[in-house]
Amino acid sequence: MTKQKILIQLDTDNRSSVFDSITAIDSGIDHLLCHHDVTPQNVTEIVHGAIFTRGPADLKSTAIFVGGSDVGFGEQVFERIKGSFFGPCRVSAMLDSNGSNTTAAAAVLSAAKHVNLAGIQATVLAGTGPVGARIAEILARSGASKVKITSRSAERAADTCQIIQQKTEINDVLVPTVLDNVESIADAVGESSIVFACGGAGITLWPKSHWPISQCRVAVDVNAVPPLGIESIGATDSATEIDGTICYGAIGVGGIKMKIHKLAIQKLFESNEQMLDIVEIYQLGQSLVEKNQ
Ligand SMILES: NC(=O)c1ccc[n+]([C@@H]2O[C@H](COP(=O)([O-])OP(=O)(O)OC[C@H]3O[C@@H](n4cnc5c(N)ncnc54)[C@H](OP(=O)(O)O)[C@@H]3O)[C@@H](O)[C@H]2O)c1
Repeated sequence: MTKQKILIQLDTDNRSSVFDSITAIDSGIDHLLCHHDVTPQNVTEIVHGAIFTRGPADLKSTAIFVGGSDVGFGEQVFERIKGSFFGPCRVSAMLDSNGSNTTAAAAVLSAAKHVNLAGIQATVLAGTGPVGARIAEILARSGASKVKITSRSAERAADTCQIIQQKTEINDVLVPTVLDNVESIADAVGESSIVFACGGAGITLWPKSHWPISQCRVAVDVNAVPPLGIESIGATDSATEIDGTICYGAIGVGGIKMKIHKLAIQKLFESNEQMLDIVEIYQLGQSLVEKNQ
């Protein structure tokens, strides 16, 4: 008899995310077990509870989701989870702290509907945060010829580029770029055909006064909190053409983000060996887009 699907939602915050819980339930699982205040130090005990309760053949019906507002901390928990498995004693797991993976995948897939990413030049504004760095990583992996990562700090921009370079082993594509005042936005965009605004919530990076920039064919803003990251784009814009630029706002990419999130949860239960991080989650998104074409 097929075992019931149990998702163990691990949150690094002191309260489990209701958003993640509802999305999990809507993805078709049978039971949701929520833990909060999860740390790299206490997660192994939870993993043991997951892997020692069902026989190896049934472990594909148990899976783990890692969420919480601190993406770096979530990454540490995810690594510790992977390190706690041995032999067939493992369950599938997914990382989506602060929605970083699903949001980055949705943002790039939205832009990719309009341009071929291979050989493209792109700018990721305020790309030093978790969402921006993931967008830059996907662009580099997709064959972009140049990806500018902007920051107010030269050091943070360079560090972010270096981390992605080490992870992907792709050199000469990522370009650290200082953007410390909105007046320099045109220089930061340069020859880029696509621009992603990934600044913190409520931070405007590209003001109306400097809109449009003719080279930019597609612009995506992932900040949903007013004032928005790109002032000329509305949060709900979705493939909306504004002054010759195809525009997406944060809510505009939300539809595909939710589909990717649910598909990823369903994927966890296909086997006990799925480890879903940015690369795998982006690939799932691609499969969704291809299916709908
Ligand atoms: N739509 C969704 O479902 C969804 C999901 C997750 C996140 N988001 C949104 O996506 C955006 C990016 O998320 P994140 O977690 O990667 O962001 P984050 O880490 O909070 O911020 C990203 C970058 O913004 C820059 N920044 C912060 N304050 C600034 C300021 N006052 N002026 C200029 N730049 C500033 C910083 O870069 P430097 O210090 O290097 O300049 C920072 O590294 C946020 O707006 C978030 O709310 C949306």
